[in-house]
Amino acid sequence: MFEHRHFVITGGSSGLGLALAQRLIREGARVTLVARNEQRLLAALETLRGESPAAVVDCRVADVTDETAMQEAMAAIAAESGAIDGLINCAGVMREGYFETLTQRDFREVMEVNYFGPLNATRAALPFLAAQGGRQHGHKGNAPAAWLINIASVAGLTGVFGYTPYCASKHALVGLTESLYYELAPQGIRVQLVCPGEFDSPMVDTLEQGRTPENRAQTLSIPKASLDAIADDTLTGLHKGDYLIVPTRQARLATLGMRLVPGLSRKLMTRTLARVYRGPTREPLEPGEQT
Ligand SMILES: NC(=O)c1ccc[n+]([C@@H]2O[C@H](COP(=O)([O-])OP(=O)(O)OC[C@H]3O[C@@H](n4cnc5c(N)ncnc54)[C@H](OP(=O)(O)O)[C@@H]3O)[C@@H](O)[C@H]2O)c1
Repeated sequence: MFEHRHFVITGGSSGLGLALAQRLIREGARVTLVARNEQRLLAALETLRGESPAAVVDCRVADVTDETAMQEAMAAIAAESGAIDGLINCAGVMREGYFETLTQRDFREVMEVNYFGPLNATRAALPFLAAQGGRQHGHKGNAPAAWLINIASVAGLTGVFGYTPYCASKHALVGLTESLYYELAPQGIRVQLVCPGEFDSPMVDTLEQGRTPENRAQTLSIPKASLDAIADDTLTGLHKGDYLIVPTRQARLATLGMRLVPGLSRKLMTRTLARVYRGPTREPLEPGEQT
């Protein structure tokens, strides 16, 4: 399905983006990684080439929050490779804490990367995806002509204690993706939404250094998954052509419960949180106080 198809992966230098790159390459795809830190990008290329010496992989330094940089990056990538068949929006950041202790800047930064980032990358890649979408012939099996794959989170489907900025950004991304599903299908572009629960990654290592007990209790009500399990399940969902991909069985059951019996889910989670509740450790901001 992915053989000789070219995927651009934002956030491809680390965690899930890199794990998806590994799997797509094993299936014969060409991959271009996009992220800000050049050293980490080069290390990722080395890892990918070490595993698959015949891999066609490249990278590009760019910040997804910079609209112009995204336009330039996608145009350069397309000019060099001849085509972009798929965009995977995986770049993301996280802020966690009590609402009262998070700043306005936290909210804006998370929204810039997790929502405007995919928006910028999608706008920039769309002409190239649509060009592939217009060429409906010669694709294997149920392979679409082009893909837009957005990595959101279970936090894009429900509220989570401590994740006010992160949940808001991922809900926004889910809304964008839902709408693009309908708008891009007629252009031959398959839109897929991936909503993982927590998994082992550098993002979570950083989170663990100071997360609230309430956030830990709620998030880990779905047991933390391995990166491999998330990446493997995501690939399976991409092969099946599912719109919503919730990797791991436990996360699928939990999100099903949230959808089917939301009142009961809330009640149970409120009870879980009450057992560990600590609450904000500093006074709420005074009206007019700088954040
Ligand atoms: N880890 C989890 O438990 C979890 C659960 C659900 C969903 N997710 C989502 O899955 C995705 C990947 O998470 P992960 O845990 O694998 O993260 P990660 O290991 O921290 O990797 C994040 C990637 O995003 C890139 N990035 C961050 N800001 C960027 C920017 N402004 N422009 C371009 N690239 C940027 C980073 O590279 P540079 O810093 O060099 O730019 C890195 O390549 C994220 O969207 C995350 O929200 C994660």
